[in-house]
Amino acid sequence: MKEILSAIERAAIRIKHEIDTKDIEYSQQMNSTGDTQLQLDIKCDLVVEEEFTKAETINTIVSEEQEHSLVMNKDAKYFVAFDPLDGSSLIDVNLSVGSIFGIYDGSFSVKNLVAACYVVYGPRTELVFAHDGEVKFYLLQDGVFVFVKNIVLKEKGKLNAPGGTQQNWPPYHKAMVDGLFQEGYRLRYSGGMVPDLHQILLKGGGLFSYPSTSDKPEGKLRMLYEALPFAFIFKTAGGDQTDGKNDLLTMEAKHIHDTTPCFFGSKYEIARVKDVYAGN
Ligand code: F6P
Repeated sequence: MKEILSAIERAAIRIKHEIDTKDIEYSQQMNSTGDTQLQLDIKCDLVVEEEFTKAETINTIVSEEQEHSLVMNKDAKYFVAFDPLDGSSLIDVNLSVGSIFGIYDGSFSVKNLVAACYVVYGPRTELVFAHDGEVKFYLLQDGVFVFVKNIVLKEKGKLNAPGGTQQNWPPYHKAMVDGLFQEGYRLRYSGGMVPDLHQILLKGGGLFSYPSTSDKPEGKLRMLYEALPFAFIFKTAGGDQTDGKNDLLTMEAKHIHDTTPCFFGSKYEIARVKDVYAGN
């Protein structure tokens, strides 16, 4: 696991450099889930793959930017799914973006998810790693990720980050989101999953939602390298998560690029989601 975390750290430092220095032109290619790839998406994917090639404990990788999984060491222990540059369409307006990693032991089954990690590239570069019952927060300083603190969520937060196109939300979802605003929750949504969830984790709690919508009934966010790693991180930090009705950490992806509706937050907000969705 240490070897994989070191590979992620090296990749993150290189990705930060790419973001700071490279053009952000669109390529002519689409990725596996239909987004037009930036040259930068392709480059960052290569960076992660190169760093993972040096890790002997990695068996197979799955990337958002690659249609198929790639076997690296067929007898090794870990299977890693990643999104090298989540929210890359926000780079031209200079908002924060991130990388997400789900680390599985033995296969890409959710029951084998043993660690999760993300990196936020913003005014500062920060890394969060959940493993062995702890969520550790690191800050990049002078080329080294320095441990800052453990992240522990409060029982109830103050932030509300509702994703998706509102006109396509089910009415009960809209009523729930509005209800939280009426309780005093504040809107915080940049359109980047990593910084939006990072904000909720560091400010103690709240709700991030990406529901099933009329245009995206299966949600937008990918299971193996977006929803499940964050479900693991929120659960480990003492918060909770759901797809509305089910615990995300019991849900198996049928295909490596499957999506799911998802909700992450502190316990209070997730209890509210489950309550509302149970009746609909
Ligand atoms: O992975 C795609 C992504 O950019 C996430 O980072 C983000 O949370 C989501 O899409 C935003 O989608 P929308 O603009 O539909 O709310």
